[in-house]
Amino acid sequence: MAHIHIYDIQEEEKLILAEGLKEHTCTFYSQPLSLETANQEAEIISVFVSSTVTGEMISRMPNLKLIACRSAGYNNIDMHTAEERGIKVVVVPSYGEHTVAEYTFSLLLALTRKISESIKVVKESICLLPHTIRGVDLCGKTLGVVGTGKIGKRVIAIARGFGMNVIAYDMYEDKEQAHLLGFMYVTLEDLLKKSDVISLHTPLTSDNTHMLSDNAFSLMKDGVYIINTARGELIDTKALIVALDTGKVSGVGLDVVEGEELLKEKCMITSTTHREPTKMLEESFYITTLLKHPNVILTPHIAYNTKEAVARIMATTLENITNFSQGNVTNEVHALKRSVGKLILIRHSESEWNEKGIWTGTRDAKLTLKGFEDARLLGDTLRDISIDHAYASMQIRTMETLSSLLGTLQQPTVPITRDAALNERDYGDYTGKNKHEMKEILGEEVFDKVRRGWNMPIPNGETLEAVYRRIVPFFLEEILTRLKRGENVLIVSHGNALRALIKYIENISDQDIEGVEMMFGGAIIYHLTEEGHMKTKELRETSAFSIDTHV
Ligand code: NAI
Repeated sequence: MAHIHIYDIQEEEKLILAEGLKEHTCTFYSQPLSLETANQEAEIISVFVSSTVTGEMISRMPNLKLIACRSAGYNNIDMHTAEERGIKVVVVPSYGEHTVAEYTFSLLLALTRKISESIKVVKESICLLPHTIRGVDLCGKTLGVVGTGKIGKRVIAIARGFGMNVIAYDMYEDKEQAHLLGFMYVTLEDLLKKSDVISLHTPLTSDNTHMLSDNAFSLMKDGVYIINTARGELIDTKALIVALDTGKVSGVGLDVVEGEELLKEKCMITSTTHREPTKMLEESFYITTLLKHPNVILTPHIAYNTKEAVARIMATTLENITNFSQGNVTNEVHALKRSVGKLILIRHSESEWNEKGIWTGTRDAKLTLKGFEDARLLGDTLRDISIDHAYASMQIRTMETLSSLLGTLQQPTVPITRDAALNERDYGDYTGKNKHEMKEILGEEVFDKVRRGWNMPIPNGETLEAVYRRIVPFFLEEILTRLKRGENVLIVSHGNALRALIKYIENISDQDIEGVEMMFGGAIIYHLTEEGHMKTKELRETSAFSIDTHV
């Protein structure tokens, strides 16, 4: 007999589970799991997608052995904590892909045939000219399906019945099904460019958050329709609102939306919503904007909700729990192996001493107005990346650059760590000297070696090699650990400190590092291996971009 706590449960579902689990002690809650309702006796819990099971909640249940999700998705569970504790997580892998696929078409037809407006016209006896409720055909249009798993394939089959052409994107292509169902795999970019309707059917992972961003919308056809029955976080809601306002998107049907738990709480932020308050305020504002928009249909995550599907969910959940109590784990899922997050390197913007051509080293010099403006512009180029953690040196100019950047990125609450390992090279006796004058004094060759060389000493200062010896261990121990957890990390540091780091990341020789510059007004975005070496590199720059020659 086990202590089972079952959350987010409706009356009629409660009867089924109570009967099926009568040998156990069951406690039912109509609300989602929260810190208050996490019961320390619980050995098994069962939750729906409206419960976010955080590490802190798991730690309040020391006897917990099983989390039985009454859903196919499990992005609402802190899988890493569950795995660390040896807690099994089981799901309902399939309860009717056609259920969600049929709903996808309900949303699409409601949009393209203006069903809500038409009903309103009749109910309210509004006298309208017919063209105001004129829709568009689906036959002959191109549907782009992102994610060709169980639901995606069913959507494709229905679309083919409507006479639509179908293109699709998936990380794993099912060529046989493509042939059978009559669709073609394309790249995500081509799908965005060619589709009249885009429908999302992928799980939410650390790699595809905000898959539809400003950049993605800019590639789409004017007047595209978007349907999302997968997960709200796949779409950057702010970018979607802009795309609706400009007419890029003709209509959007959403069964899921970022911050959808607020829909249930009448947009009230309460202690049961386990999100950052600023983020929730933002989400609440965007949801309110969407609800007022004439070309938006928003429903409360009910694509799964048919009599037949709910009966299958109950049956599989009962089976999962009963099997577990008999020592047999069924439908178990594991934490997805996250790919290494993105590393973004940015040099601080122009400081008052940069402007005068003075070697600043570890001394503090504030940003110029141009410096603040450049940081703001650079932030604009990074809007599609969600930063999980940011790092700066102890010098004020990196913090000023970072605050300005994060402000533009509208991610002002990103946690920041400042560390002396990221400080600028100590210029020793040369600190405060004018570079042009030093070039005269030292001669061009020595001057270049001092500025760019690997181990040219400076009186009472640091060589680049010394900077490398402090920044690389810090990177490997602190920053790479985060990246390997799938976090996106931003570092704002200095010309030489970043050159030392780039030397490690790109495996550059002592000799060749002399030719490497770290630009002002630009960002380097790396995808790295588990060892912290470069897999791919992307450069982003503002119009104010310039190659620095005065490190
Ligand atoms: P599935 O696991 O059968 O298929 C998912 C497909 O997405 C796979 O083919 C996979 O390769 C692909 N994929 C994964 N990550 C990708 C990426 N980054 N880019 C491109 N393709 C990617 O899942 P199924 O059953 O088709 O469900 C899809 C999603 O629908 C679920 O993960 C869930 O989030 C959502 N869902 C929503 C419901 C609702 O009530 N609104 C109900 C059930 C599921």
